[in-house]
Amino acid sequence: MSHQLFSQSLISPAVQAQLPEGYLMRPLEITDYHKGFYDCLAGLTVVGKVSQESFRQTFESMLRCQNVYHVVVIEELKASRIVATGTLIVEQKFLRGCGKAGHIEDIVVHDSQRGKKFGIRLIDQLRYLGNAVGCYKLLLTCSETNEPFYEKSGFERKDLHMAQYLNQQQQQPQTITVEPPTTAAAPTTTTTTMATETNTNTTKQTPSEITATTTATVDSVSMIKSCDLPIKALGASIGSMLVK
Ligand SMILES: CC(C)(COP(=O)(O)OP(=O)(O)OC[C@H]1O[C@@H](n2cnc3c(N)ncnc32)[C@H](O)[C@@H]1OP(=O)(O)O)[C@@H](O)C(=O)NCCC(=O)NCCS
Repeated sequence: MSHQLFSQSLISPAVQAQLPEGYLMRPLEITDYHKGFYDCLAGLTVVGKVSQESFRQTFESMLRCQNVYHVVVIEELKASRIVATGTLIVEQKFLRGCGKAGHIEDIVVHDSQRGKKFGIRLIDQLRYLGNAVGCYKLLLTCSETNEPFYEKSGFERKDLHMAQYLNQQQQQPQTITVEPPTTAAAPTTTTTTMATETNTNTTKQTPSEITATTTATVDSVSMIKSCDLPIKALGASIGSMLVK
């Protein structure tokens, strides 16, 4: 079984070239559990308690869903730690000639590394990936606070996002505990409270796809089923966006 979630060939050399020296953009690897992946994710939302075994099982489940889950990370090589991550989930459709839609999810830059254009580079990479795998649109959902960030990446508001909490326990802020490697020291612990979900588009849309622009205050969890893996997102004030 591959140690990388998807092929390295789907990483854009042009985007990599725009990163500062010492930072590598690459697919998520099974060893990233011990490289601060969860510490980074905790800057976005509740991550819960995740054992190394749970991480491995989830990684392998995603790997089996070939060409669906594309979790990208930026690693600070000197420190061997993940400083940013973002995901493109490819949804196969029956409509649009059995086309594919790309869902951008879980964009987060470690709070110590923000303002260095890592966020923009992640979006650039996911757009490259969406084009490479044949998505006709990219979609994401974000809070109003982050709307200017996505507008800078070429997204615009579209439609109304709705959600419903299905598991109340998932909403509670929790302390995450990452198991240390057998040779390492103390576990990493982090807390956080917020969450998002996303949507975008790369080529032309029909008029019905580019009309409504509104936001909704949502206090719920939306669930999307793909392969055997549920995708959950917690929301505050949320709007749906797509690429202009
Ligand atoms: C949002 C986030 C990913 C941005 O990452 P970042 O690496 O700090 O952003 P960048 O350095 O790439 O910023 C690119 C541009 O967007 C702007 N920008 C970034 N976040 C912004 C925000 N929340 N509001 C307004 N502008 C913002 C930057 O000022 C910069 O503008 P410039 O090109 O004019 O200089 C990061 O702040 C983060 O991880 N936040 C917490 C998690 C989160 O909310 N994720 C989004 C989920 S939808």
